[in-house]
Amino acid sequence: MSDWLIPLAITVASVCTVLLVWRRLHPASFWLIVGYPLKTLHVYVTWGNVALGCTLTRKRRRWRYTLDGLPIVGQATIALSQRRKVRRVQIDKPPRLGIVRPCRLGFRINVKLMDGQTPEDYSARLSNLAHAWRVHSVRLISSRPGRVTLLATRGDPLSEVRILVLSEGLLRVRVGLLETGAPWVVDFRTVPHWLNTGATQSGKSTLLNALITGLSAQPVALVGFDLKGGVELTAYGPRLSAIATERTECVGLLNDLICLVKTRMALCRANKTRNIWKLPEDLRPTPVVVLVDEVAELFLMAHKGEKDEIASTATALLRLAQLGRAFGLYLFVCGQRVGSDLGPGVTALRSQLSGRVCHRVNDPETATMTLGDTDPAALDAARQIPANMPGTAVVVADDGRWYRARSVYVSEEIAEAAAHANAELTPAWADLLTGTDTVTVTDADLEALAREGEPT
Ligand SMILES: Nc1ncnc2c1ncn2[C@@H]1O[C@H](COP(=O)(O)OP(=O)(O)OP(=O)(O)O)[C@@H](O)[C@H]1O
Ligand SMILES: [Mg+2]
Repeated sequence: MSDWLIPLAITVASVCTVLLVWRRLHPASFWLIVGYPLKTLHVYVTWGNVALGCTLTRKRRRWRYTLDGLPIVGQATIALSQRRKVRRVQIDKPPRLGIVRPCRLGFRINVKLMDGQTPEDYSARLSNLAHAWRVHSVRLISSRPGRVTLLATRGDPLSEVRILVLSEGLLRVRVGLLETGAPWVVDFRTVPHWLNTGATQSGKSTLLNALITGLSAQPVALVGFDLKGGVELTAYGPRLSAIATERTECVGLLNDLICLVKTRMALCRANKTRNIWKLPEDLRPTPVVVLVDEVAELFLMAHKGEKDEIASTATALLRLAQLGRAFGLYLFVCGQRVGSDLGPGVTALRSQLSGRVCHRVNDPETATMTLGDTDPAALDAARQIPANMPGTAVVVADDGRWYRARSVYVSEEIAEAAAHANAELTPAWADLLTGTDTVTVTDADLEALAREGEPT
């Protein structure tokens, strides 16, 4: 017996070693040739039970060759003595699966919705499916009437993000990776204002660095509000058209920005357009991206004397958020804590910032303020971001869905180098403000337009 046992053991050991080495040295080809066929088999063979366990099946009556009453457990003993015959019985029918298609991260599969099912039924079962299919995660990546597409990922694509920050057209920057493997793009033309929250050391400023690196090569003006004494943004000074680091400077700069909105509004009125993007190119003013690091500092009152300043700051920020899109002003607001305790101004501002990025948070209120109006699963995902993965966030993307994402690590030095290299693209603040002193648009006009709703 040992004559054939030893060669067999050696063969099995060699095959296992080859497979392990192959998997380690070239995981992509190993997945395609070995892992993917096995996984496909596993998915199809277990689908009936998995769908039943996830309550995704529907009852159907079908012809089956069975013993009498076999589907009903209590009668099974009686049924065993009876003859087998073809009869109509009730079965649990799973949704129809499409072809399991391999991709770099794992596999995609289409599932046909059964009567009465919606994509939300599948969104609620994604973690059950991930466990059943023995994969890292399953996400619903798209849906068409009657069909959903699921993406199963074998590992966490966010464990290491090694892509370049890329400027992808005017006001578009690729800042990282979504968990689906797609690029994470901050596009101010589609989503004009963003709220970026997270606890300390969660990666807010690193995302800001990526954004500054991408935007600094574009024909846009950057304006900074940094009430942490300027420690975060001062280094990017050569590429910033204006920066405010004290409360009084903030009030002044916000007034300037409101004047800018008024001037642009007057320009649009004179040319009978509703926003700057419909103006002829030679008349179109430079877009301005306003970066705010630590928004809470703008709303926190050290003493009662600051009450009026805070009120005017809150009103001005809200006006910018309401009217900015039409007049080429975009907000990217970062904060550790964004809660209603900072005042009603914060809640009103938040509702205007439709782009949401929630890094790891310490208090549930900030997560709720950032993602509360999206799927509750997004809140759970944000609470589960581990501290050892800074830069990871839950993002509400252009398609309205939420995704886990991670920014590219862009150090301050890299962002600073980009700011210096593109310093000549910085529009002078005085040039941007040209014409603001003679503008005929009043505060009442702005208010009326804000009430009317944002021009499109
Ligand atoms: N995308 C990322 N990939 C890898 N490491 C990251 C990433 N983002 C942040 N980090 C690490 O986390 C550290 C803290 O990040 P960052 O300064 O952006 O946090 P923060 O949220 O701005 O903190 P604070 O609120 O204290 O300013 C960085 O120095 C870096 O080491
Ligand atoms: Mg920071």
